[in-house]
Amino acid sequence: MLHDSRIDLLLLGARGRVGSAFRERLAARQAALRREAGLDLRLRAAWDRRGLAEASEGLPPLALEAHLDVFDATALEAAIAVVTAPGSAPCLLIDCSACPAVADRYPDWLARGIGIVTANKGANARELDFYRRLGRIARQTGTPYRFETTVGAAIPLLGPLRDLALRGERVRAVQGVLSGSLGFLLERLHAGAAFSTALAEAERLGYTEPDPGEDLRAADLVRKLLVLAREAGFGIEAGAVEVTPFSAAAAAHRADWRERLAAEDALWAQRIAAARAAGQRWVMLAEVDADAARVGLRLLPQDHPFARLPAGQNLVRIETELQQERPLWLGGPGAGPAVTAAGLLSDVIAAAEALAGRAQAESKRRSVAA
Ligand SMILES: NC(=O)c1ccc[n+]([C@@H]2O[C@H](COP(=O)([O-])OP(=O)(O)OC[C@H]3O[C@@H](n4cnc5c(N)ncnc54)[C@H](OP(=O)(O)O)[C@@H]3O)[C@@H](O)[C@H]2O)c1
Repeated sequence: MLHDSRIDLLLLGARGRVGSAFRERLAARQAALRREAGLDLRLRAAWDRRGLAEASEGLPPLALEAHLDVFDATALEAAIAVVTAPGSAPCLLIDCSACPAVADRYPDWLARGIGIVTANKGANARELDFYRRLGRIARQTGTPYRFETTVGAAIPLLGPLRDLALRGERVRAVQGVLSGSLGFLLERLHAGAAFSTALAEAERLGYTEPDPGEDLRAADLVRKLLVLAREAGFGIEAGAVEVTPFSAAAAAHRADWRERLAAEDALWAQRIAAARAAGQRWVMLAEVDADAARVGLRLLPQDHPFARLPAGQNLVRIETELQQERPLWLGGPGAGPAVTAAGLLSDVIAAAEALAGRAQAESKRRSVAA
């Protein structure tokens, strides 16, 4: 008979875009996962900067409001202490924030056996030593640490790279179109829109970071490249990435770059006209190989797979020692709360299965010893 394995979920960033989409997907799949996978996933605690909710038998994922108390950091640590007390079900923290202070806590949480599933690329894009330390603690304690959605949302990119590393197939080069916001801007620019108009549209549609200067400086893309490169076996630091920002004004004038957009309108009009005349398209590419890591604009023939990509899609080309002539291509929708939440649930299922297996092995060991 299949016994349900109870796993307690702690959801951080519960009412953000990704956190809300995750609660919807969890609500839709909770009963089926119990039936089909023997996993009893309970939303044990949920919080954001405005409120904290906790319930010993699990919160209704779609009706948090009635359970929320005002958030304070001591209440959060107290809630974590309660859910990790000896005898409690194994637990999994799901980080749907972009908060660096939260990522600071990962090493401690992992060391205490709390599994982590994260959409927040902040932790793995820090110093190489911090990234390696997280992997080491997870391995040594047998605690799951999964972050597939941090690059390419629901596209399985990091899992295949990890598999290549484990089977000893060296990755020679990775290239990718990984930015939804910059892809959207380029599509509008090639359709004839002025740079300032395309940027205003991207902001209105919610495609950019809260500070669009982050996108235009390519800072978010550098973080994605770092995670991808490190998982592919290139142990690089952020300082090793050569960056050509999307907008020189946004990179050079952090405070008042918006006042300089008119000059960029003229520059982009010239660039697009020249590209069109040459049968080419601008693409914002992130790439790494043994010699260099780069993020920047590239002109490619119009029929190149990266140049033909519709806005919102990501595409990655992986060249390995065994796959040079015919490299591996992986692609799909690279952002959006619904697809990111779907990817998070895949990570949660894999991590929950690992925690359930660990709990069953421990209980067997205890009963043999008794
Ligand atoms: N949106 C996407 O398509 C996408 C795709 C892949 C990965 N991601 C990543 O997913 C994460 C969330 O993105 P989002 O679009 O959902 O952002 P969002 O809508 O701004 O939501 C962020 C959430 O995090 C909460 N938060 C921030 N700091 C916190 C803290 N210290 N403790 C607890 N909660 C905290 C916020 O709380 P308040 O609401 O109270 O401020 C909010 O609920 C980011 O790391 C992003 O890079 C997003």
